[in-house]
This record gives sequence, C-alpha cells and structure tokens, in this order.
Amino acid sequence: AGDARRDRPLAGRRAIVTSGPTHEPIDPVRYIANRSSGRQGHAIAAALAELGADVTLVSGPVTLADPAGVTVHHVETAREMLDAVLAALPADIAVMVAAVADWRVDTAAGEKIKKKAGEGAPLLSLTENPDILKTIGHHAQRPAMVVGFAAETQSVLDNGRAKLASKGADLIVANDVSAGTGIMGGPRNQVAILSAAGVEHWPELDKSAVADRLARLIAQRLSPAPG
Ligand code: CTP
Ligand code: CA
Repeated sequence: AGDARRDRPLAGRRAIVTSGPTHEPIDPVRYIANRSSGRQGHAIAAALAELGADVTLVSGPVTLADPAGVTVHHVETAREMLDAVLAALPADIAVMVAAVADWRVDTAAGEKIKKKAGEGAPLLSLTENPDILKTIGHHAQRPAMVVGFAAETQSVLDNGRAKLASKGADLIVANDVSAGTGIMGGPRNQVAILSAAGVEHWPELDKSAVADRLARLIAQRLSPAPG
C-alpha cells in the first residue's frame, strides 16, 4: 500500500489542464492566435495521469495526438475553453498552460472578408477575452492547487510574481520565450517555479521532464510526506 501511494500519489484526485493556443475567428477563413504547440500542456496532462490523477485536458487546436489515459475536450476559442474548464469543476488541481489569445474580434464576419481595390485594409475592433486562470483562481469552487504559466520575453521573474498575485495562483511556472531561447515550439524548456515561498530555478529539461517534475511537485504540495 505504501508503494501504491508513492507511485500514484494523485490517485483519487481530479485535475484540469488547458493546453495549446486558442483561435479567435476574424471571418470563416482567418483567425487570431498565439504561438503554441501544446507540447508542454499535453505533457503535463499525461504526467498527472501517470501519477494517478483523473485528468481532463481542454485543448485548443494542436497537431498533437490526445495523450493516453486522459479525457480530452477539443475547443477553438477562449470562451469555449473557459466553458469547458468550468464544466469540468470541481477539481483538486488546475494547471492552465494554454496560450490563450488575449483578444478576439468583436464580431467575426459571417462571410470571407474580400480585398477591395482602393479601400485599404480592414480595421479589426478587438475585445478582451475572459481570463481562464484568473477565473479559476478566484472561483467559489477553486481547486486546492491552481497553477499558471507566465511566458515572458523580459523581466521574467517580476512579471511572473505579479501574475502569481493577480491570478490567485499557488504556483506560476515562468519561462523566457524571447527569440533565441528556442523554447517556443521546441522540445526543451527552462523554467522557474514561483510561489509564496519564493523562486526555484530548474535546469533546462525536456518538456516531458518539466511535466514529470511539476506533477511530482503538485502531488507533494497537495499531500506533504509525513515528518
Ligand atoms: N491565461 C488564461 N486566460 C487568458 C489569458 C491567460 O487562462 N485569457 C493563463 C495562461 O494559460 C497562463 C497565465 O494565464 O497560465 C498567464 O498567461 P499570460 O499570457 O502570460 O498572461 P496574461 O495575463 O494574459 O498577461 P500578458 O499576456 O499581458 O503578459
Ligand atoms: Ca496573454
């Protein structure tokens, strides 16, 4: 029994993970999106399942296969992602990894927008999308462990710490995605873990290793080992 608890410390726990980008339609053929492969989020969903958690993965459009042993909901937009996350509550763990588009076009065109000679380019009027992490971090059914990401191109730790507070998260996984780091879309990641306790720098690792280590950390913070 001791071994089962050690190998599957998240048995009986429910987790919600978001991953990938969202696509916000401009018209039927065009959209606004962030860069995101979904690799890190999908790896985290798989790692939590590996530790025994009952995992719901809410994924934006990605080319990755659904991870084994995970319930996957496929969505396109931020609003659909929020709805799917709320529908998956209650949960013990929320890990919001998706690169959610911050803005959507107020009213997407029903037909393809055509170029018109001499009229110039269309102006898009944008509206802010709901903040899924912040909604979950302040929800009446807030999971016991709420984890967010902060992909930054500058002042990584300061920006990450600001997000820890504003989003109501227990942990923020901060990483530097500026050009030249090769993190975005690549197989490796280098992160710092921010919490009320301070900052912990992890070495550069495969995204699957970051996922395993994060899943272990979440399990440990939910049920600290006795002694
Ligand atoms: N996030 C979210 N919903 C949004 C925007 C962000 O759930 N509409 C989550 C991301 O999944 C991530 C965290 O919030 O876990 C931080 O995302 P990020 O884009 O770095 O932060 P923002 O608050 O959007 O701020 P900014 O883009 O201006 O840095
Ligand atoms: Ca953002």
